[in-house]
Amino acid sequence: MKVFIGYVSLSGNTEKMAIHIKNRMKAFGCEVYMERLDTVEVDALKDFDLAFIGLYTWNLEDLPYEVNEFYEEIDQVDFAGVKVAFFGAGDLTHSKPCAAIDILSDKMMRFGFDVYDRVLKVHHESSTYAQWRKCEDFAEHALIWGSNRKKWRFFMWDRMLGSPKYQKSVFLLRRVLDDYPIKCKGRSKKEELIQELLKFGIF
Ligand SMILES: Cc1cc2nc3c(=O)[nH]c(=O)nc-3n(C[C@H](O)[C@H](O)[C@H](O)COP(=O)(O)O)c2cc1C
Repeated sequence: MKVFIGYVSLSGNTEKMAIHIKNRMKAFGCEVYMERLDTVEVDALKDFDLAFIGLYTWNLEDLPYEVNEFYEEIDQVDFAGVKVAFFGAGDLTHSKPCAAIDILSDKMMRFGFDVYDRVLKVHHESSTYAQWRKCEDFAEHALIWGSNRKKWRFFMWDRMLGSPKYQKSVFLLRRVLDDYPIKCKGRSKKEELIQELLKFGIF
């Protein structure tokens, strides 16, 4: 699965969240592209199965200045079905915490983006293990949401990766099921693969 992570960050909190999300996606075998949002064209999001968008908030009703161009570009194309999940750091004691996320996600929703209903807002002064765990948990759930029919694959992938006994089978399973066409040179390789999959009742 191809995953995009676009973010802006001044003091580094949103960037750290982006890195945790990226690492989690890679652990799940996703192809991950991470860029700053001010260097990205909105249209590029169409090339991905799932996009994570991360931004900070500095003034209540304002987007970060680096996101202005991205925001303006949104009305140029139809983005129906492009899946997006939002995250960002902010002051959660604020009356409207992380308002910039809501501004951007509202506009993206209006232009057809399929926006994940769970948003990850992390308090700027806490950089604890629990906060980073939240990022990973959010990333996993967004991935399951974004992968539609592939939910069970991630479940199996996660469970089996933890077991050294099954790691080879997990690798083979992913090659077959996760959009990677398998190229078998000889019959023996293919049979070996089927044997592995049989263990899991796939065939
Ligand atoms: C001048 C200033 C204004 C801020 N205004 C808001 C705000 O309106 N809402 C909010 O949730 N956080 C606000 N914050 C908190 C920042 O969003 C927070 O520090 C965040 O971690 C910055 O993200 P970054 O580390 O990724 O740059 C403000 C911080 C500063 C310094």
